[in-house]
Amino acid sequence: MKKLLSVLLACIMVFSLASCNSSSKETTADKKDGDLIVVGYAQVGAESDWRTANTVSFQSTFVEENGYKLIFDDAQQKQENQIKAIRNFIQQDVDYIVLAPVVETGWETVLGEAKEAGIPVILSDRMIEVSDDSLYTCWVGGNFKKEGEDAVAWLAEYLEKEGRADEDINIVTLQGTIGSSAQVGRTDGVDGKLSEHPKWHMLDKQTGEFTQSKGQEVMESFLKSYDDIDVVIAENDNMAFGAIDAIKAAGKDPGKDIIIVSFDAVKAAFESMIAGDMNVSVECNPLHGPRVAEIIQKLEKGEKVDKIQYVDEGVFPADTAADLIDTRKY
Ligand code: AHR
Repeated sequence: MKKLLSVLLACIMVFSLASCNSSSKETTADKKDGDLIVVGYAQVGAESDWRTANTVSFQSTFVEENGYKLIFDDAQQKQENQIKAIRNFIQQDVDYIVLAPVVETGWETVLGEAKEAGIPVILSDRMIEVSDDSLYTCWVGGNFKKEGEDAVAWLAEYLEKEGRADEDINIVTLQGTIGSSAQVGRTDGVDGKLSEHPKWHMLDKQTGEFTQSKGQEVMESFLKSYDDIDVVIAENDNMAFGAIDAIKAAGKDPGKDIIIVSFDAVKAAFESMIAGDMNVSVECNPLHGPRVAEIIQKLEKGEKVDKIQYVDEGVFPADTAADLIDTRKY
């Protein structure tokens, strides 16, 4: 009987050791054929056409046929919702967390928790500001500061062509979500180049939260405060659409009386340029799904990935819109 008991005990120990091992994080080598890679995506929200295209890009890439299970969370533009989503992903023991951060600051604690749990975090679209860059594996997105600088370069060239290079030019800016990389970078890019144009005057800047309705509302108030606006810089296309509506309602002609400079280059911006309402849109490419999938595939194979990965982006003035609209993917 004693002998039987000790055999039983030994069996229990072996079994519990085995189950201990299986509950620890599965490595790539442990994965069985047919296992899905579980990816939690903490998305910003659904504030713009760009964002919708970005969501579709992830949802169409991270599908079962490609070997993934996607857990998607829409944070409705609130950082606290993204923090909750990341904690849920950690609880569910996902294989990878992808974060498109609403704002740049305030990520240390939750990303520390992800690191502790051994879950790699891939930043997509916007950046974060942390003292310890081991809190994320890598980042892929657009160069927002360069986008701002490109917008200024285009405006200078356009004013020159129009014979207005020596005029005083009054500008207002509709900013994106304050503290987001897209806002910080584009605002810095534009402001940094203003000193090269002493006759350009930035009359006002206010956030339109990257939405069409807020863009329209802020533009309406700009038009009430200033009767001599020459240029609107809208930090995304949707705010530009709102501004265009406000300008039309005020009896002015967008694209002619007031030059509209925008960012994203979504399909609807091309339509707006063809209609003569928008003058230029500086591209910000949202199709990050396949890029993030490529990163994950490399990590799965144990390969190294570049920490910072910028995406190539172009500048699309109105006179190119008709030729290019059919080639646009978002
Ligand atoms: O972070 C990218 C920006 O976020 C896009 O310009 C904007 O449309 C979106 O909401």
